[in-house]
Amino acid sequence: RLQPGPVADLPASLGEAQVAAAHCRRCGLCEAATQTVWGDGDPDAGIMIVGEQPGDQEDLAGRPFVGPAGQVLKEAMAQAELGPVWLTNAVKHFKFRTTGKRRIHQAPNRGEIDHCRWWLDLERRFIKPRLTLALGATAAYALTGDASPLRARRGMVETARDGGPVLVTWHPSFTLRQSGQAAVQARAELVEDLTKLRAMQA
Ligand code: URA
Repeated sequence: RLQPGPVADLPASLGEAQVAAAHCRRCGLCEAATQTVWGDGDPDAGIMIVGEQPGDQEDLAGRPFVGPAGQVLKEAMAQAELGPVWLTNAVKHFKFRTTGKRRIHQAPNRGEIDHCRWWLDLERRFIKPRLTLALGATAAYALTGDASPLRARRGMVETARDGGPVLVTWHPSFTLRQSGQAAVQARAELVEDLTKLRAMQA
């Protein structure tokens, strides 16, 4: 007679979700990455900021936004006078290729983003953000299901798959890849959007 197999319990808290995510094998990215990088910050802040995926430094540290992109983000948040937030990523493992000793970032593909959305959705159920900021196209796609280019969406408020408002802005790494006036403008637009997020909080 057939017996039901073991059914993994759904994590009952944010802490349980973090522990479960540390053992995730839903896609191949866990093979090469050092560890799962879960969200961090104030879980009661009411604001969730979602990036793409951990970078080299985040992969080693096990915390989001501790590298160069995080530095840009934190400076922009300070300029916008934005208070505590919950910081996380759409994809929770670092994807890279290796050249010599260097690990070069590679953008996650649609399948990897979709697999990892299981964790993002669960994280959102525990954090219950009133407002979400999507940094770049990967986060915007994961949150809204819309993969269209970012340029026409930057600064706009969209609706998350789970219903809440999502403000779309540049990824801080995008501002680092620009030079001259384009870099100045992208950085100013990031601060402008963070200021809008703060105003939406009120
Ligand atoms: N870029 C991201 O999208 N997230 C991080 O945590 C670091 C860099």
